[in-house]
Parts: sequence; C-alpha cells; structure tokens
Amino acid sequence: MMDLVNKAKWDAWSALGSLPKETARENYVDLVSSLSAASEPPSPAKPAADGEQAGGDLVVTSENHITTITFNRPAKKNAITTQMYQDIMLALQAASKDDSVLTVLTGNGEYYCSGNDLTNFTDIPPEGPEEKARTNAILLREFVDCFIDFPKPLVAVVNGPAVGISVTLLGLFDLVYASDRATFHTPFGPLGLSPEGCSSYTFPKMMGPSKLSRTKVGSRAGEGGCQSQATVSLQGRGLGQLVFLKAAEMLIFGRKLTAQEACAQGLVTEVFPDSTFQKEVWTRLRAYTKLPPNAVRTSREVMRSKGRERLHAVNAEECGALQQRWLSEECTSAVVRFLSRRGKL
Ligand code: COA
Repeated sequence: MMDLVNKAKWDAWSALGSLPKETARENYVDLVSSLSAASEPPSPAKPAADGEQAGGDLVVTSENHITTITFNRPAKKNAITTQMYQDIMLALQAASKDDSVLTVLTGNGEYYCSGNDLTNFTDIPPEGPEEKARTNAILLREFVDCFIDFPKPLVAVVNGPAVGISVTLLGLFDLVYASDRATFHTPFGPLGLSPEGCSSYTFPKMMGPSKLSRTKVGSRAGEGGCQSQATVSLQGRGLGQLVFLKAAEMLIFGRKLTAQEACAQGLVTEVFPDSTFQKEVWTRLRAYTKLPPNAVRTSREVMRSKGRERLHAVNAEECGALQQRWLSEECTSAVVRFLSRRGKL
C-alpha cells in the first residue's frame, strides 16, 4: 500500500512541473495530505484547537498566538521519520494561515532532535536505491523549501542536543533559544554525507564575526551572554575567511559545538540555564506575541525576501549532492555501522 501511495505522490509531483512554483507546492501538500489520510491513521500533525494536544511522533499545539510543533519521539531522541517530514510540512502550511504570530519548533524529552532517522535509508523500494535517493531528495527539497518560504517568524526552542538537519535548518530561523545543555552537531563527514538545510550558504554567512560585537566578554553561562574564547584566534585573518573556517569546521569536519560556542559563533540567539529554560523562554515568547502582528510579519519579510531566490538555488544544489551521497559506499557503510551497532540489521 505504502509503495503505491509513494508512487502516486511521485507521479503527481512530476505532473506538477508546468505549474507556478507556489501553486505546485500547495497542490502537492494537499495531495500528500489526502494520500496520507487515505493510507494511514489520522495525522497527529493537524493543528490542534487552542491548548489541545495531539499524540504521535509530532505534536502541534496552538495557544496564545504561538503555534508549537514538537518532535515527540523521545525514545529515539526525536529522530525525524519520513512521515514526520511530511507532517511538519503540513503543520507549517497550516501555521502560515492560522492566527499565530510565532511558530516554534521544539523537542520533547532529553533531545531537541537527533536529525534524520537513519532507518529512513533502509526502506528501499522495488525500483531500487536510485529511486529511493531520488524521492528522498525531492522530499528534502520540499521540506527545506517550506522553511525558506514560511511567512512568519520561526523560533527554535532548543531544549537539548541537536543533530543533523535540526541544526542545519537553524539558519532559516529568526530566533534560536538554547538550553545550556544543548549541543549542535552535524556529523556529515563520519556519515559520508554533505550539508543540507541551506547551511552551506547560511552558516558561512552567520558564523564568526557577529561574536565580535555581540559577545559579552566575561559574561557567565546562564546569564544570557555568550562567552568568547575565539576572539584571539581571529586576529591576523580576513573576517570572511574566518567565518568560512568556523562553518567548515562544523559542516565538513563535524565539530560539535556547546550552546555557548554556538551562541558565540552567531548560530544561537541566547543561552539559558536548563533549570529556568522553559520558564524564561516562554515568558519571552509570549511577550513578543503582544507586538503588532502585521509589523512583525512585514519586518520579517523585508529581512528575508532578499535572499530567498538564492536559498532555493542552494537548497536544490545541496539536495542534488545528497542524492549522490546517499548512494555512495561511504554513506551506506556508515548507516550500516550505526544500525548494526544497535542490532537493527
Ligand atoms: N536515527 C535512527 N535512530 C536513532 C537516531 C537517528 N538519527 N538517533 C537515535 N536513534 C535511536 C537509537 O537507535 C536508539 O534506538 P534503540 O533504543 O531502539 O536502540 C535510541 O534512539 C536511543 O539512542 P542511543 O544511541 O541508544 O542513545 P545515545 O544517548 O547513546 O546516543 C545519539 C544518542 C543521538 C548520539 C546517537 O543515537 C546517534 O549518534 N544517533 C545518530 C545521529 C545521526 O547521525 N543523525 C543523522 C545526522 S545527518
């Protein structure tokens, strides 16, 4: 059944080629929604009424003008399944039209998110791995496009460690609040993969120089400041080169950053002590919802619109590279290693 459904989705996607991009995207999301409804239990990602909680791997709530999308697979460190990618797209589409001012992504439990569920790679269709890589690339491109085009401020409430795509997407967010327990890790090298989420473009633009003006030198973790250990190492090099090097260390070599390091490097807006994280962050966010919503939206659009075309091009390029990577021996061996270690193969 699922293979037929996936094939139908693919056929429909191909048929959308001649439509304007926005119309095509809306039609596709509607189609995925109807197919999912026909083939599976009702999606948990449907927006809930005020305060209402839905169960499942993704929980969507809408309350006090904040729509919150929560990764809800704590036993799997909130790894994102194929179904969750689709449900997040649907949730974002609904959130773009509801009366919320802010849309928040967060995680339930110890982790924010452990990235792509590596078992997503194991479900090979009868057409073979090339077809799997192709449909995965389409799904990923659509998924990231939804973040690029999202019309309201996006907020990441990073309650714990973040891995892979949950990190790379952060360049498309407007606020990133992190618990001091959070870490930021993109282990693409060890996995034989390459960056996604437009991070190959956003990270080299974001990381590095902002800390020179934003760092509160001598501030302590937990007081909202970002400690800087790297200012000295910036001397003697052009800033552009240094920004690139910081991003490269993370995206190519997989250096894991603490919350404080990520803040000092411009990837995180502010770090809070874990003990008061939820209280402080949600108080702040509720205060922001009192701002005039149209002004907030307009300011955000003015800031975001200039780079949008470029982001779509970067997204397409990254997905094309990944389509090749997923088929590589380097990647398949790494995934097999991960799954064998846990007795999944
Ligand atoms: N994909 C699939 N399963 C995952 C997962 C992922 N990305 N992250 C965690 N899990 C699963 C584990 O397989 C394990 O399942 P099990 O209980 O059925 O064996 C469960 O979640 C708990 O993870 P575990 O590895 O036991 O916890 P840990 O604290 O030792 O390590 C991580 C946590 C996140 C560091 C580790 O699970 C990991 O490296 N995951 C892969 C992260 C990754 O590479 N993501 C993709 C980036 S592109």
